[in-house]
Amino acid sequence: MKRVLTQNLVPGMITAEDVYTYSDQLVIGKGTVLTDTTITKLSYYSILSVMVEDKISRSFGAPEDASSSYNERLRKTPEFIKFKADFEKETEHFRESLNDIVTKNGPVDSDALLTGVYNLMSGQTGNGTYPIFEMLQNMRSYDDVTYVHSMNVALINNIFARWLHMSEDDIRTATLCGMLHDVGKLAVSSEIIKKPSKLTESEFAMIKEHSTSGYRILRSRNVDEHIINAALMHHERCDGSGYPLGITLNKIDPFARMTAISDVYDATTSARTYRGPLCPFTVVGLFENEGLQKYDPGFIMTFLENIVSTYLLNTVRLSNGVTGQVVYINRNKLSKPTIQCGENKFIDLSRENDLEIEAII
Ligand SMILES: [Fe+2]
Ligand SMILES: [Fe+2]
Repeated sequence: MKRVLTQNLVPGMITAEDVYTYSDQLVIGKGTVLTDTTITKLSYYSILSVMVEDKISRSFGAPEDASSSYNERLRKTPEFIKFKADFEKETEHFRESLNDIVTKNGPVDSDALLTGVYNLMSGQTGNGTYPIFEMLQNMRSYDDVTYVHSMNVALINNIFARWLHMSEDDIRTATLCGMLHDVGKLAVSSEIIKKPSKLTESEFAMIKEHSTSGYRILRSRNVDEHIINAALMHHERCDGSGYPLGITLNKIDPFARMTAISDVYDATTSARTYRGPLCPFTVVGLFENEGLQKYDPGFIMTFLENIVSTYLLNTVRLSNGVTGQVVYINRNKLSKPTIQCGENKFIDLSRENDLEIEAII
């Protein structure tokens, strides 16, 4: 058996041990054949790696990329091609600044960091047909552990802060929270983070400690207190099930509560080596089923409602193969809107237990 990072898992691998969250909640048992859904669930619970058997179950091949036609179309648009080039350029700058902060003990130049993100956003505020989230999910590189993810969380936090009608100053703070939330990961040797197997328990503890390391790195610099708290508390959960402190709702800095949502959303929607990005309705369903109580109630509803609303009037394919248009969002079950699939034929998915949206097409 061997230890495999969650980001490198593929369907068909078999767990060799029970998998628990940091708060000792069982996620999946030993001997489970992994599927796309179980792997997504592991990323949802921020589980970094899993012990798997050497042999792979043949009965579970990698699923076809269900949303491929939508994503293929997106990747060919001029707006995406421009976004990708800008994103890569800005991420390179960001990589250099972050390394200076950690290895050369350099200052945190908030304005310079933000310029990159705002350049990217300003290129996108025109008449873009595709939501910026979709763009992000189509362009990540698989082996990147920190820079691309942090850039994504910064952009997601920036949009999220606007949805929450925050002040311009707070939008900037939220964006910086995203950029710097995982800065502590740079203090963990990249050999440990990228090592595909046989990590020792102490090496795992070191990865988990990135939130405390981030706090230590930022504490001595001239940065806003919320940003320091976001680095420390983005793995805390409102029901007390998070780490490192296990604190609850009101004790968690509101900027850390926001960043926690953007962080999990980016981790779960991200493309895997064996498929493209996950259908956003699947991710919203995962939040609804796995426990909204882990997140700030006001923040999570605003976030999920806005995500789902961007797909109103989009064409989707259901798990029974039927296609139709999203025509009505059910506020009490956001992952299950009403679909029109014929002139007078409507399917209210919130009443259909066995039916769900499989892909946006
Ligand atoms: Fe983190
Ligand atoms: Fe993160």
